[in-house]
Amino acid sequence: MYQTNTKLISNKKLSGDFFLLTFTNPKISRNSKPGQFIMLKIDDEKTFLRRPFSICRTSNNTFDILFKVVGKGTEILSKAKRGDIFNILGPLGNGYTPLPTSHLPAKGLVEGFPLARQRFSGGLPVLVGGGTGVASLLFLAQSFALKNIKPVVFIGAKIKKDVMFENQFKKYGCKVIVSTEDGSYGKRGMISKFFSSYLIANPYSLSTVIYSCGPKPMLKEIAKISKKYNLKCFVSLEEKMACGIGTCMGCVVKIRRPMSNVQCPMSKVQNQEFEYKSVCKDGPVFDAEDIIW
Ligand SMILES: Cc1cc2nc3c(=O)[nH]c(=O)nc-3n(C[C@H](O)[C@H](O)[C@H](O)COP(=O)(O)OP(=O)(O)OC[C@H]3O[C@@H](n4cnc5c(N)ncnc54)[C@H](O)[C@@H]3O)c2cc1C
Ligand code: FES
Repeated sequence: MYQTNTKLISNKKLSGDFFLLTFTNPKISRNSKPGQFIMLKIDDEKTFLRRPFSICRTSNNTFDILFKVVGKGTEILSKAKRGDIFNILGPLGNGYTPLPTSHLPAKGLVEGFPLARQRFSGGLPVLVGGGTGVASLLFLAQSFALKNIKPVVFIGAKIKKDVMFENQFKKYGCKVIVSTEDGSYGKRGMISKFFSSYLIANPYSLSTVIYSCGPKPMLKEIAKISKKYNLKCFVSLEEKMACGIGTCMGCVVKIRRPMSNVQCPMSKVQNQEFEYKSVCKDGPVFDAEDIIW
């Protein structure tokens, strides 16, 4: 993790209230992995706390963030100019763990699973993003592209102008499915519905891994569907953050304890079926099965 004064080299307005910022900072760009984020200080008396943003793409010397204007900090940030300097902490958090497609038996029979599910080997990763959640998934698709892996990508948004990065995912060779809640672009309805029908229509491998980032209700639904089909699912959570480094406990979530820890008869605390983990340091990416929603 580095704390550095970082120069903004471009501020591009995308559609709606979305902006793409590019910063030059070789330390962060070369040491980040998909799912990690930065804490950015906005020099204004109205925004005392740093704001967290996912890293959405890197090159050798630069990295990008995508953001939507939702409040005072992002409003100020939207007016930033080339050459402006920001104090940035990062890369932070654990990031995604891209599992090899062979982490589960790809061939042969697995007890308890119907034959139809076992016919296919080496399932492609599936990425499901909602709103600005596509940011961290674009970086993941970029890293898969380097290994010539082309994920299937689901992008959900409320309206057409909130659909981000469709073409960028396609440039990485991904098959992209888009839905908007009002039907103004792509399919009409929640993206979780189309993710579910995709799994039904396209027999997948037990080794398919799901990676998802977006609003909590969407993540909960994607986790539920993945569990139904016995697929490994990782979700990236967003909580309000103050420190971003695991010291203030402002961003904790309940995470299921491994069973071996639950059964200790000695202490009440140990007997709890959950423990608190910080989204900023222990996450933001968690195994969906571990989260108590
Ligand atoms: C790990 C992580 C990664 C994130 N990545 C991105 C990203 O790539 N792009 C992006 O646009 N946003 C991202 N966010 C959310 C982003 O941090 C908030 O939108 C931003 O801090 C709002 O600042 P503000 O001053 O404009 O809003 P405020 O004036 O502080 O609040 C305005 C509204 O935004 C909500 N809000 C504030 N902070 C958060 C937060 N941390 N998470 C969710 N909602 C919040 C508030 O509840 C309020 O409704 C991320 C958050 C986390 C925790
Ligand atoms: S923001 Fe302080 S512990 Fe996570």
